[in-house]
Amino acid sequence: MTTATSAPWPHRHLLQLAGLPAAHLRTALALSRDFSRRLEADSAVGSLTELPADRRTPADSSCRGKVVANLFFEDSTRTRVSFSVAARRLGAEVIDLNSVGSSVSKGETVGDTAANITAMGVDAIIMRHRSSGSAHLIVRTLEGSASVSTHHTANTPSATTSPSALSTQHSTLPSPRPRNHHCSVINAGDGRHEHPTQGLLDILTLAESFNRLDTFDLSGLTVAIVGDVASSRVARSDIAGMTALGARVICIGPPTLVPQSLTALGCEVSHNLDQLLPDLDAVNVLRIQFERHETKPTTAPENAPRASSSNVIASVREYAELYGISSARAARMKPNAIVMHPGPINRGVELTPDVADSNRSMVLRQVTHGVAVRMAALQLCLNAP
Ligand code: CP
Repeated sequence: MTTATSAPWPHRHLLQLAGLPAAHLRTALALSRDFSRRLEADSAVGSLTELPADRRTPADSSCRGKVVANLFFEDSTRTRVSFSVAARRLGAEVIDLNSVGSSVSKGETVGDTAANITAMGVDAIIMRHRSSGSAHLIVRTLEGSASVSTHHTANTPSATTSPSALSTQHSTLPSPRPRNHHCSVINAGDGRHEHPTQGLLDILTLAESFNRLDTFDLSGLTVAIVGDVASSRVARSDIAGMTALGARVICIGPPTLVPQSLTALGCEVSHNLDQLLPDLDAVNVLRIQFERHETKPTTAPENAPRASSSNVIASVREYAELYGISSARAARMKPNAIVMHPGPINRGVELTPDVADSNRSMVLRQVTHGVAVRMAALQLCLNAP
């Protein structure tokens, strides 16, 4: 049983959920819940500009005058758009920067890019990058290598960081860092490490589904994370956040995607989905990240995923038969059990379309919660001491 207290938020950056005290998780989740309710109340009205002034505060003015930079060096639909919507709902301005169209394409390092963005007076950097540890690297760059703040130093992603990717960047860190900066860094997904706001929105969805929105105490709930856990930053954030709040978390999939070593993160590991199905309150089904596996040439059509083969799983069809959530499997779950997926879905692989679109599916609810969670993250980090 976890105690249901919250605590003032002291973190200027949100880099990972691992190591965050449960009380701070509750603070972020409670604010997310409040924003979610506020957004739902407003949704009947339409654009925020149509709202009377007394309903525009504090949800949509607490970051007025702030500038938020979206630095997305890896593709995104949900995270990028929802951070933009969230920032605008808080009254902030948003700048979008991708590797294509920025000087990253000329070889500028991510550290240099962040330092230059900060030198322009930007208040927050939202960062997605394929390298684990890239968000931590930005913080070290901006604050000086000896002063990564709060809990993040204790849980830097050494186990999941690609040394080659990061050592290149370390060697080219800018020397004189911007002075008097107060720039927040929020990790929007770094390699296989973490995706903390996705973890929070998954927890918010879980808590809402099981009537835990008052306490965010997840004791008594069993959550399965099914699929490509080895490649997944979402899984690491979910495991950290959900176990800190009292849930039992079981990672399920073939040994190549769900190695026994994951138990070091505080979860259980199983390779037998069918055996566990009747015990589960929720399944969070992960996309097979073909692009992170070594791949062989594919003859897939132009609009298919960039890679659809893998040397980590022998057969996608066999994977779907063993670990895909079909209507037959969903029928074996508890009557009120839910199905989540962080997206994007490989329909017919991780989820059959009828399950993805069923009443059990919380997929779009998760996306809706993403805006509220990102509003909370921005408001908390931008107003941290
Ligand atoms: N869940 C998630 O991170 O989706 P995107 O890659 O579309 O942002």
